[in-house]
Amino acid sequence: MSRILLTGGAGFIGSHTAVAMIEAGHSVIIADNLYNSDEVVIDRIEKITGVRPDFRFCDVCDNNQVREIFRENEIDGVIHFAGYKAVGESSEKPLEYYRNNIDSTLTLLEIMREFGVCNFVFSSSATVYGPDNEPPYKESMKKGSCSNPYSWTKSMIEQILTDAAAANPDMSVMLLRYFNPIGAHKSGLIGEDPQGIPNNLMPFITQVAVGRREELTVFGDDYDTPDGTCRRDYIHVMDLAEGHLKAIELAMSSKGVEIFNLGTGVPYSVLEVIKAFENASGIMINYTIGDRREGDLPGLWADAEKAERMLGWKAVRTLDDMCRDSWNWQSKNPKGYKGDKK
Ligand code: NAD
Ligand code: UD1
Repeated sequence: MSRILLTGGAGFIGSHTAVAMIEAGHSVIIADNLYNSDEVVIDRIEKITGVRPDFRFCDVCDNNQVREIFRENEIDGVIHFAGYKAVGESSEKPLEYYRNNIDSTLTLLEIMREFGVCNFVFSSSATVYGPDNEPPYKESMKKGSCSNPYSWTKSMIEQILTDAAAANPDMSVMLLRYFNPIGAHKSGLIGEDPQGIPNNLMPFITQVAVGRREELTVFGDDYDTPDGTCRRDYIHVMDLAEGHLKAIELAMSSKGVEIFNLGTGVPYSVLEVIKAFENASGIMINYTIGDRREGDLPGLWADAEKAERMLGWKAVRTLDDMCRDSWNWQSKNPKGYKGDKK
């Protein structure tokens, strides 16, 4: 059994990863300042696994708070989810994004060095490939230029981690480039709970289905794709969570830096996702075709071969599973975690 620190572990991907880690027999500490999450998540993780993760209300940019956690625990590895993630907002608040995402990473790295902890898994994104690469994206491709501060933080943090590992031969760093995580744990107890108007497709669809939003706007149907709408590599969040489990286990048994795409390798269009959701939920989605969204690429999907070869990991859940589980979560929690509050 290893003791793993999950920063941002109360969030969407972190909470599902906590479940996968606990179920695999690891001991989990969650450090989160609840900026974009709710403490109810900790109860829900306990309900699913029968084990209550050790929760620390902690700003990962705060040296003293992070040091306290390392002082009190023998930590074997860190999975760093904490960060701000709204692409549009990052252009309005670039300083906040650079400060939070980069400062939290530097703080962790400094404290890890102080305590001799060397295993690090980072939540990166397919966005670092940029618009100049042709899908399917391979880890060996040169990174592209980024169109927004959020994406730059991911690209810069990858570089910071690569340099930190080059300076410390004991370090092991896994840069995980996620594609489009959707779905939820099959219990419907944890899921994605965006604040305000969702930016991403699946939470928007589920909020239309549950009656919180009037209609979905499909951002453009005049792309050079089979049905004119953009294609993405949607991945079930539990598959993604299991990818983290494999990655931290590999980190603990190796040294150096590895990059892994975590995707399925199969793209679906916006219209295909709507159709699959309608089939899974039995609810028709009210939608209109709108303008293209600035910055959207017509298609992006992973070459997922390296993760299968080196991590022994492959996404196994289908788009139907993703839609069914997203709907199960949203229909059981129409107001998200806030529904628990009186
Ligand atoms: P999320 O917002 O649900 O989770 C992030 C968590 O980090 C939240 O619980 C938030 O409260 C916490 N947090 C933020 N700043 C913090 C700080 N300074 N100290 C402590 N906690 C802090 O997001 P998510 O969807 O679970 O994403 C997790 C990570 O994966 C993020 O780094 C995100 O950029 C990255 N990522 C997400 C996607 C996606 O589609 N969801 C895609 C690619 C990469
Ligand atoms: C977006 C971000 C990406 C980030 C990812 C995960 C942009 C340009 N990209 O990716 O950097 O890593 O989220 O957080 O913001 N769509 C609609 N209507 C909607 C919402 C989305 O048609 O209301 C379409 C989009 O045009 C896209 C697809 O659905 O084709 C998926 O969109 P989304 O879920 O926002 O993910 P990405 O754009 O792939």
